[in-house]
Amino acid sequence: MTSSPADLRVLVVVPTYDERDSLPGAIDRLRAHVPDADVLVVDDASPDGTGELAESIAAAEESRSGRDPVHVMHRAGKQGLGTAYVAGFRWGLERGYDVIVEMDADGSHRAEDLPRLLAALDGADLVLGSRWVPGGKVVNWPLNRQLLSRGANTYTRLALGLPLHDATGGFRAYRAPVLRALPLDEIESHGYCFQVDMAWRVLRAGGTAVEVPITFVEREQGRSKMSSNIVVEALVKVTVWGVQERGRQLLGAAQRLRGTSPAA
Ligand code: GDD
Ligand code: MN
Repeated sequence: MTSSPADLRVLVVVPTYDERDSLPGAIDRLRAHVPDADVLVVDDASPDGTGELAESIAAAEESRSGRDPVHVMHRAGKQGLGTAYVAGFRWGLERGYDVIVEMDADGSHRAEDLPRLLAALDGADLVLGSRWVPGGKVVNWPLNRQLLSRGANTYTRLALGLPLHDATGGFRAYRAPVLRALPLDEIESHGYCFQVDMAWRVLRAGGTAVEVPITFVEREQGRSKMSSNIVVEALVKVTVWGVQERGRQLLGAAQRLRGTSPAA
């Protein structure tokens, strides 16, 4: 029997690169709305000093709460969102957390939505915060980003046959066993195709995923790290995966045909 979400130890992994102005508010809201969850900031040597700021937030939280809820991992330089999450997942799995959450540092993912995501783990291995299901919303997101996100999700659904509406979103909760079952070493995706890669791997491993509507609010401070390289990486990778998947399906169909043919 799986334990109910209320009993689970939760780690929220927050990757940061130059988020000095956003991070304090994001952690404050997490601590207020989900006080039992621990936080791991994974900072890639942000030039603006986000890593040092995260250390001082962690120290302040420790003296305020009498425990040690905020942790910081420092990496040598900017190595991409995907590798930051993999490093954070490993850290959490080694320490026995039951649930690992992905969340942006820039305020786009609202801590007040997190309890609903966690509650939905009752029926799933992966819960996706979704902008593109009924009840989901985006606030102040430029039209070009909305179109990119919708286009990327439609393409992903068609290319991979993924039954999801927001497979690129970065606000999600995993049950630890499903992460343990995945070959984290093999994940090469850097940018937002990491999110597609992970959702697809969970489903292919036999895990279950559900989408819960969220409100995504465009950041008020700092800049997005989205770049044309990230978009190209996603387009190329999803296309290659889609072709490989179709190849596997064709091979399977051919084998079935051979197996059932009278001559076989
Ligand atoms: N450690 C680390 N290293 N953190 C990074 C890196 C990196 O190389 N690149 C980005 N981040 C952090 C940012 O500091 C932020 O906390 C979070 O990852 C998301 O980055 P944004 O730059 O704010 O992404 P976005 O708003 O353009 O993209 C959002 O939508 C995408 C597509 O739907 C995010 O939610 C993505 O996760 C999502 O895939
Ligand atoms: Mn953002």
